[in-house]
Amino acid sequence: MAVRQHFQARQNDITLAVFPKSGTTWLKALAFSILHRQHYTPSQNHPLLTSNPHTLVPFLGKAFLDQDLTSNIAHSPRLFSTHTPYHALPPSIKSFAIGCRIVYLCRNPYDTFISAWHFFTKARPDNLEPLSLNDAFDMYCRGVFAYGPFWDHVLGYWKESLERPQKFLFLTYEDLKDNPILHMKRLAEFMGVPFSVEEEKEGLIEEISRLCSINNLRELDVNKTGKTGSLLVNKTLFRKGEVGDWVNSLTPEMVERLDKIIKEKMDGFGLTFKTSL
Ligand code: A3P
Repeated sequence: MAVRQHFQARQNDITLAVFPKSGTTWLKALAFSILHRQHYTPSQNHPLLTSNPHTLVPFLGKAFLDQDLTSNIAHSPRLFSTHTPYHALPPSIKSFAIGCRIVYLCRNPYDTFISAWHFFTKARPDNLEPLSLNDAFDMYCRGVFAYGPFWDHVLGYWKESLERPQKFLFLTYEDLKDNPILHMKRLAEFMGVPFSVEEEKEGLIEEISRLCSINNLRELDVNKTGKTGSLLVNKTLFRKGEVGDWVNSLTPEMVERLDKIIKEKMDGFGLTFKTSL
């Protein structure tokens, strides 16, 4: 509420908006590395080698409450992230007059759920009963989830991105996995820092892609042993990073139930999900 009331967006701010467990960490790594590539090259002393992506690109609420919007994101444009649904964003971020940019990263609802279940199972305090897959799935299907139901979150940003395509970049986790170079180029252009022909020839996009890959980030000391803030254990952020892992956990009945809900809630808006590559 404090952030909504008091945060003042600037025209060149860039917000990375993501439903939890849809690839926030990856998007932060990519956006930070692309935006600040003049300052940091992937091979030498890059901040990602010693800092978790969530430290480099803070969540808006935390940055605002810590009054960290200038120190932590000193560069212009300011880059921060949010899990907040579109309707609940601070009005100045949504303001047509200010017109700051939003990158939304969407992931298919099946992998998102499985990723969340693994994450919340690990993060669950020891004094609570373990959360069974069945119970967690039932809650997800009823829309009981951090930051609200999956379908409301995705559709909120999707509809707005159709209205104002010049201010929104709508990416999917699956497309990024399938063709990272193409979508990193789109991201760079959208952020106002397109890759030059020389950079492309030198293989800089591939280098950044490798730096930000799950296999690289997962093996760094900061992500093996570090924490972000007092609660977030960095290693819990890097699991498989695949498209289609849900087939290993969801039963046909679960898939049928979620299929039906997604159809009911999301049909007719022109949005489809890739559930395998
Ligand atoms: P899985 O649990 O399916 O492996 P978030 O960053 O929003 O919390 O999302 C977490 C999901 O993104 C996890 O998915 C995690 O493994 C995956 N992930 C983390 N870093 C990644 C990266 N660099 N590239 C691709 N996926 C990544």
